[in-house]
This record gives sequence, C-alpha cells and structure tokens, in this order.
Amino acid sequence: MAIRIAPTLAEMATYPFVRLEEARRRLLEEGVAVIDFGKGDPNEPTDPLIRQALVDALPERSPYPLAQGLPELRAATAEWCERRFGVALDPDTEIVPTYGSKEAIFSLAQVLVDPHADKRTVLYGEPAYPVYERGALFAGAEAHPLPLVREHAFLPELHAIPPRVLDRTAIFWVNYPNNPTGAVAPLSFYEHLSELAERYDFAIASDEAYSELWFDEPPPSALQVPDRSRVIVFQTLSKRSSMTGYRSGFVAAPAEVIAALKSYRPTVGTAPQEFVQRASVVAWSDERHVAETRDRYRAKRDVLMPAIAAKGWEIVASEATMYLWVVAPDDTVDRLLERGVVVSPGTFFGPSGAGYIRFALVPTLDECRRAAAILAEL
Ligand SMILES: Cc1ncc(COP(=O)(O)O)c(C=O)c1O
Repeated sequence: MAIRIAPTLAEMATYPFVRLEEARRRLLEEGVAVIDFGKGDPNEPTDPLIRQALVDALPERSPYPLAQGLPELRAATAEWCERRFGVALDPDTEIVPTYGSKEAIFSLAQVLVDPHADKRTVLYGEPAYPVYERGALFAGAEAHPLPLVREHAFLPELHAIPPRVLDRTAIFWVNYPNNPTGAVAPLSFYEHLSELAERYDFAIASDEAYSELWFDEPPPSALQVPDRSRVIVFQTLSKRSSMTGYRSGFVAAPAEVIAALKSYRPTVGTAPQEFVQRASVVAWSDERHVAETRDRYRAKRDVLMPAIAAKGWEIVASEATMYLWVVAPDDTVDRLLERGVVVSPGTFFGPSGAGYIRFALVPTLDECRRAAAILAEL
C-alpha cells in the first residue's frame, strides 16, 4: 500500500513555475534559443564586494547558526530601515534574520493563527505570489483571496470587505511593490489598513521583497504608519542585491511577534549560514550596487516597453519591481513560446490575472533586444 500524503499537499496544484520550467526544458531539447521572462530569479551578478565578504567569512568550521542571527546583521538591517524609511527599530527585539523571505512568509500563519478559533482567516490579494495562500492552508487557517483589479489600482478594496470577514481575520497580507502587477501602494493605503487592523484586531503582514526595485520614487513601507504595533514586514536581499541563492532576509515586527518567531524558528532550523549573514551585513550597508541594479532593470524596461506597446498590448501598473504586467490576447503565451520567448500567463497568479501576461525582466539586455525584435515580427 502506498504511503499516504497529507491532503493539503496532495490536493494542491503543481507550483505553477514547475510547469513553465518543463516547457522551457522541452524547448531547449528541441534546440530552440530560449529567452526566459518566466520566473523572477534575477540573472544579475551579485556585487563582487558581497561575494568577497562571503569568501572572507568562510570559516574552517561552520556551526549551527542561531535563530536570533548575528548581532551585526540585526544592527545592519535596523540601520537600513532607519536610513530608508526613517523608522527606528530595536535590533534585539524587533528584528529577526530569515532564510530568504519565503519560508518566513509560509510559516507566519503557523506562528500566529489558532486553526480551531473562529478568527483564522488569512486575507491576501490575488493575483499573487502563491505562498500566502499555501502557508495559510498548511497552518489549518482559512485562505480568503481579495481580487486586485485595474479599476482599483491593483490595491484591495478595503471598504468593500464585509465586517464579518474582517472580524474573523487573523492576518492580512499585502505585497507592494506588487508581484505580479508591479503596482505600488501609497502610504495612505497602509494608514487606512492599519486603522482597520486596530478596529478588527488583525496583523498586517507586508511582503516588501521588491521595495528597492523602483524607477521613479522610492515606495513607502508599512513600517511608516504612525502605529506599527500590528505591522509585520518581510524583507529580503534576493531582489535588491540579486542574492536569491544566498537565502537571506529579515522580519521586522513588534517585540511580541519577534519573540514568537525566535521561539518557533529553532524547531524548523531556518537561519542563514553565518558566512551568508556576514555577506548580508555588507549587502544591507551598501546602496551603490542597488542603484546599479535599478539602472540595469531600467535599461531593459527602455528596450522592452516600446516593443510591447508597439504590438498594441497595454502595459498597466508596472511602476516598480522587475515585472511588466501586460494586457494581451489569450494565445500570446503560446505564440511567444513557439518563438522561444517564455512569459508567465497572468492566471498563474490567480483568476484575476486572466487577460494579462507577466514579463520578468531577468534575461540580459542583449536578450531583451532580441526579444524586442521577435515581438516586432510576431
Ligand atoms: C512577492 C514575493 N515575495 C517573496 C519572495 C521570496 O523571495 P525570497 O525567499 O528569495 O526572499 C518572492 C520571490 O519571488 C516574491 O515574488
């Protein structure tokens, strides 16, 4: 008899990008030169300063890292929050380093939600990064998507959420700058959300993975609301410093949440290796490489945006992040795929993504130029 698999996992659809990866591999096997705008994994080089810091920190023996992280890293992240957002956090009680941000996003519901209580709803906007929903389901919470639509600037319509839903809400996820739409939330949105959180007693979980990939104005953080007693922010070096493989991020939150995370995390055993933490100190302390990264993405936008617009496909939101969110006919994904250009269908991110495709600007500038030429001939 086969070993039983937990139903939450067994009933879950394949992680969408696994399907895209299969299509990519098939094309490569057929000898097609693939230009992959699918997955948001930066192809940018990690700055030599950061790589050297990792090499210099590699010890003869690397012990288990402690869940609370190195004090130097907590200090560097607190100083970064102060410089970037003007908020003063206590590095010992209000910050914990994480292994990238995905695992921390996934496990938040396990840390905060009582699956037997009425108040076990996890709200999140959709289309979305799939981990808010999956984390909620594995924690026995109730996942409740809120459509993010163009008419409301891809922000959840806060006044349209019924009070009976808010009453049952334990966590409200927001993600701005947003994946996949590239939309940015104004500070007034976080302020309104924070008032609701106080009234209905829920936590605001703000995934700010893309806060540093902006092209106009640096976007605000949920940390900047006047009362951040219910605000939990997830940050990462993955996109800002092109360090996806290093796995390094942090959570900034009220002391009682950080204390809960510090008690939960040793069981799971997820803390970045100490040599990664030391490289991360260098990454959070330097802005030059981040400005250069933004310039590289800007150059790719300058090549692709006119090529997309020339097709008559409308680019919407897309103010920040590495993504372009494009209104395009349904068969576009397959037509592009036939020519070796991989993009994500909007429905990968949820039903409200129907009618859109997402370009992740991860190919090189040269590849973007080639893709622009392919688009012109399509
Ligand atoms: C919206 C969003 N949040 C979080 C992450 C997680 O990134 P990481 O675990 O590398 O920090 C991603 C990765 O693609 C993302 O798109």
